[in-house]
Amino acid sequence: MPTLLGIDIGTSAAKAVLIDPEGTVLGVSGCEYPIEQPLPGWAEQDPEAWWQAACAAVRGALVAGADEVAAIGLSGQMHGTVLVSPAGQPVRPAIIWADQRSQAQVERATRQLGLRRLGRLAGNRLAVGFTAASLLWLLENEPEALAASDKVILPKDYIRLRLTGQVATEVSDASATLLFDVARRRWSRELVTAWKVPHWLLPEALESTAVAGELTREAAAELGLRAGIPVVAGAADQACQAVGSGLIDPGLASCTIGTGGQLLTALTAPTPDPELRLHTFCHAIPGRWYSMGAILSAGLSLSWFREHFAPGASFEELAAEAAGIPAGCEGLLFLPYLAGERTPHFDPEARGAFVGLTLRHGRAHAVRAIMEGVCFALRDALEAMREFGPGPAQIVAAGGGGTSHPWQEILAAVLGLPVTVALGPERTAVGAAVLAGLGTGLYRDPVEARARTVRYAPPVEPRPDDMARYQELYHAYRGLYPALKGSFHALDL
Ligand code: XUL
Repeated sequence: MPTLLGIDIGTSAAKAVLIDPEGTVLGVSGCEYPIEQPLPGWAEQDPEAWWQAACAAVRGALVAGADEVAAIGLSGQMHGTVLVSPAGQPVRPAIIWADQRSQAQVERATRQLGLRRLGRLAGNRLAVGFTAASLLWLLENEPEALAASDKVILPKDYIRLRLTGQVATEVSDASATLLFDVARRRWSRELVTAWKVPHWLLPEALESTAVAGELTREAAAELGLRAGIPVVAGAADQACQAVGSGLIDPGLASCTIGTGGQLLTALTAPTPDPELRLHTFCHAIPGRWYSMGAILSAGLSLSWFREHFAPGASFEELAAEAAGIPAGCEGLLFLPYLAGERTPHFDPEARGAFVGLTLRHGRAHAVRAIMEGVCFALRDALEAMREFGPGPAQIVAAGGGGTSHPWQEILAAVLGLPVTVALGPERTAVGAAVLAGLGTGLYRDPVEARARTVRYAPPVEPRPDDMARYQELYHAYRGLYPALKGSFHALDL
């Protein structure tokens, strides 16, 4: 029986899964690495640490079926900037998506083009930590690093380079650099020229399912595999998660509550949000795109609270406490903008807030308010989607928070939609493995791949009483950011 290997280069760990053609996970393993912060607001990682962790994760996942691995697929954290030399060596540590050093460059580059033109060329706003923003910072601050570089690639592309010796990227990650013409699925000459990014730095951008190379003898020896296994281009982690959750057509949206939160729906045409609150990127499936609202502090808001106010408590204990509080937290609201916000405000100076505190409120209220606030922030993304399309009829939840039952109940009632999950672990790495199967002909097409590899749990239906309460509170929630924006900006000293 052929097996498929998927490798995900996440923000905090590399994960590997081995699946059979029916999507059954035969082996799964992970290996962590740190985020380096050489200066406040900076976030860098060592590509060699990704490679070592990927090797350890693959070896851990290959408990059985290693002899039969038919193809390898890749997934990775988005927006990162990995400069490689002509010999394929990293020129400097990678600047990852969480890096905030490029605020001045983002403001200048956005002002230069104007939002309307940026929307027309890229279909997206530029944000700090995106490849284009990091490259603009490097052009100003480390021109010698660029001069020593041959190409800029993204995190999972570096792993593919180590696996196959080939330098390339693919359309889903290229979309999220903001140097890409998302509608035409090719680099944007206009953007690259306007921002004076050297043209020679950009590698070939393949489709995600294209076979990009074969496993070299050297990499095969490190991983415990045979040489010559085809390696497909792979995709951005959000696109792979969508494939692993069965999102290849409109109608469903996935809602991830991990460190950040994302609401994502597949599109059959590149239709950007006219106000650019949502991202529009190329999907991993040829001829498909996706629309995505991204919030920066979802699970992170609860981790922050637990670290400072409930040390030692497990997330399950906190969620159980919160389940004892009525929907709406007796008038307590939470804005989850602890690290600024992307969708819908695109405001790095937005801040977190509890609003409506009274003497009645305690720790359990605060926890529930955080869970509800994250769901209200995701509802903002849903409302933006509904403004220019029919919007999804069901949600597929993912991520640590998304697979917690109490959080699913709140999500269902806040969004007013049934919430299910795709069964089985590590849907992002599974999505990468499915792309490998698609690229090598194991599956005829994405519809067959989905039918064979994705099964859903019975949905959690929204409770009518909670839905009505949240509907009222959502109006109050929406009023908070405009009311507090001036104060947030004044606090940014
Ligand atoms: C998406 C985003 C994150 C990263 C982290 O726009 O910034 O999901 O991909 O993995």
